[in-house]
Amino acid sequence: MVWPNTAERDADGNLAIGGVDVAALAEVAGTPLYIYDEATIRAQCLAYREGLATGVENAVVTYAAKAWLSHALVEILVDESVNIDVVSGGELYVALQSGMPPERITFHGNSKSVAELEMAIEAGVGSIVVDNFDEIDRLYALSVAAAAPIPVMVRINPGIDAHTHDYRKTGIVDSKFGLGVQNGDAERAVARSLDNDMLDLLGYHAHIGSQIFETETFTAAVDAVVDFAVAMRERFGVTPRKLSPGGGFGVAHTPDEEAPDARSYAAAVAQAYAAAIATSGFDSAPTLVIEPGRSIVANAGVAIYRVDARKAIPGVRTYVSVDGGMADNIRPALYGAVYSAELVAAGIDGPAGTSVTLAGKFCESGDVLIRDVELPPVQPGDLIAVPAAGAYCLAMASNYNMALKPAVVMVAGGRARTVQKRESYQDLMSREVTTNQYLSVKHSDQRAG
Ligand code: LLP
Repeated sequence: MVWPNTAERDADGNLAIGGVDVAALAEVAGTPLYIYDEATIRAQCLAYREGLATGVENAVVTYAAKAWLSHALVEILVDESVNIDVVSGGELYVALQSGMPPERITFHGNSKSVAELEMAIEAGVGSIVVDNFDEIDRLYALSVAAAAPIPVMVRINPGIDAHTHDYRKTGIVDSKFGLGVQNGDAERAVARSLDNDMLDLLGYHAHIGSQIFETETFTAAVDAVVDFAVAMRERFGVTPRKLSPGGGFGVAHTPDEEAPDARSYAAAVAQAYAAAIATSGFDSAPTLVIEPGRSIVANAGVAIYRVDARKAIPGVRTYVSVDGGMADNIRPALYGAVYSAELVAAGIDGPAGTSVTLAGKFCESGDVLIRDVELPPVQPGDLIAVPAAGAYCLAMASNYNMALKPAVVMVAGGRARTVQKRESYQDLMSREVTTNQYLSVKHSDQRAG
């Protein structure tokens, strides 16, 4: 379903989420506003856990923080026994500050700096997923001073071409992510990890892409990871403790799109995993780790905009311009992502809808949120709700045109709480240095000396 589980309309057609009237909430919280439904997030976490339990005993759901990260979300994940994966020092910092136990954090990324690796090791993260040989070299260097062996997984690139936008493919041979299985890099990375007692090789990871709907693609990833683990046991006699086919489970962004639900994705992965392990010859199943990001939060989140202007170009199209756009949701401009929209106060017997173009407020012709959407004749001041906005919108938000990042509220049981404040104009100035502060930069000849 494209809307949060608790979304409903009253007898007059007014939208409520989590038992909270959306128009009244927008009055006090302002717009653009992102509303997250706590019940939907919790239901998704549970659905993944239950789906995994249909196939395997030892399984872990690890949320990919890049989809959206917030203190309030981390608290919910901790409560729902869902772990977290991070891809930067910033995500790691926020996850730790928000109370995620370090051992439940996985650190991913194809370009981890020495400082980020140090931070992860000092914090005691559960695993660092190595993505290239330079990273292994860095871990070798850092392991000398490490208090305990550094837990690592090797990210393999199995060469699977997932059906998704080119920008979201990660498992094909020509990818910046992962170590190739076909060309032997993955095996060499395993050898290097095993060569150093201060690296504790936990197992293998693959992630083939994002917004993928076909369960067969995920089962192919499962098979690829298990096959690789079997090959490594044969080659090096090493048994993995953890295996992961990654995340990437697709969601519906519009009411006419259909996506498998979280439980079905997890069940398909778990059952494929159980079948693969049964023929693998491993005495017991290594822990299965899945990494959903988008599908935990996308449909829990709804973006609320206020209409600022309407412009009809006769015979061409009607633009309805709202107070947000590509600064809070770059996905239509970046991927051609398609969203839907409805009026917050839909009215029951209102006039029929016509097709309009929902435009953002930013200074780019490409800042169009929805190219053609049926809406009743909206006027400035009307509120518009865009569902399925919970993932990769705020997470990819910018200050383009000095936009203020939107406020975020979490709704549950008829109550709304602010979980992220709207940025202020003062915030925009907070990084500006208004007195001259010269840096002591050496000339190149001084540096050489
Ligand atoms: N694990 C790894 C290693 C990943 O790289 C990703 C996403 C995930 C898990 C979670 O994938 P998900 O379940 O969220 O599909 N900005 C793009 C999506 C980029 C995804 C990057 N990696 C978008 O807005 O569609």
